[in-house]
Amino acid sequence: MDYSNIDFTLDDAIATITVDRPDRLNALNPQTMQEIEHCIDAIRDDRSIRCVIFTGAGEKAFIAGADITAMVTMSGFEEKTFAYHGNQVLRAFEHLPIPIIAAVNGYALGGGTELALACDLILAADTARFGLPEIKLGIIPGFGGTQRLPRRVGLLRAREMIYTGDMIDAATAYEFGLVNHVYPAAELMGEANALATKIARQAPLGIQQAKAAINGGIEVDLDTGLRFETEAVGLAFSTDDKKEGMTAFLEKREPQFQGK
Ligand code: HXC
Repeated sequence: MDYSNIDFTLDDAIATITVDRPDRLNALNPQTMQEIEHCIDAIRDDRSIRCVIFTGAGEKAFIAGADITAMVTMSGFEEKTFAYHGNQVLRAFEHLPIPIIAAVNGYALGGGTELALACDLILAADTARFGLPEIKLGIIPGFGGTQRLPRRVGLLRAREMIYTGDMIDAATAYEFGLVNHVYPAAELMGEANALATKIARQAPLGIQQAKAAINGGIEVDLDTGLRFETEAVGLAFSTDDKKEGMTAFLEKREPQFQGK
């Protein structure tokens, strides 16, 4: 598939997906969502990729939401199809056996905040702004915002953001536990690459099992979650990388993980 709305680069083990519609503040139209889905499918099949960075082109926006020019003429059923597809794409982020870092370089509104919420980690530029302003358009969040935001920041904060549509700045997002770190804008991508490199050096099957245990366990009771973890740790113990990690520790050297 040729991409016209996103840019995909692969540097060693780190893949970077950039939504590339800066004149529309990287708004997500149906074509862009299809390209992101295709890209995630390709990443899943590439065993050399150990970490993904997701960002937006330009200095102003990460993603300013779903594309209002595309949505203005959509019927309820067309919008439902768009929302259903969006939810499938963001669920694919969570099921991808590779971590995704959102590098939020500006406005992350509506679908932009929702997409970031489906990533494993969120780094923000100090210029970033988060929000779910859908209510100001007479609609409500449709890419999981009413579900993931309360789980992340708590009911009261999420209700206020969703009922008012107000944006929060990067410092407030950090205080809410919505982002991992805030950096000066010029340092954001360097920090995202440094974090991705650190993750890429770890045992990939271990990372895969840790992600599955965290994401599988978050919605279930503790006993069920602990069973997920026990299965995952059993699988991690069956890898060559477990032998390498423990042997390297005992031999006082750095491990060389192979993803086997
Ligand atoms: C389409 C958009 C857009 C969007 C910005 N643009 N956001 N086009 N969809 N979501 C366009 C503008 O129309 C404008 O086009 C150009 O990008 C630059 O934006 P400006 O508004 O001129 O910039 P600025 O004044 O700096 O304001 C930035 C902004 C504002 C605060 C981010 O653009 C804004 O409020 N955007 C809409 C944010 C929003 O409501 N997002 C939620 C969408 S609903 P021109 O042609 O004038 O240059 C959603 C639902 C998801 O995400 C779920 C669906 C199922």
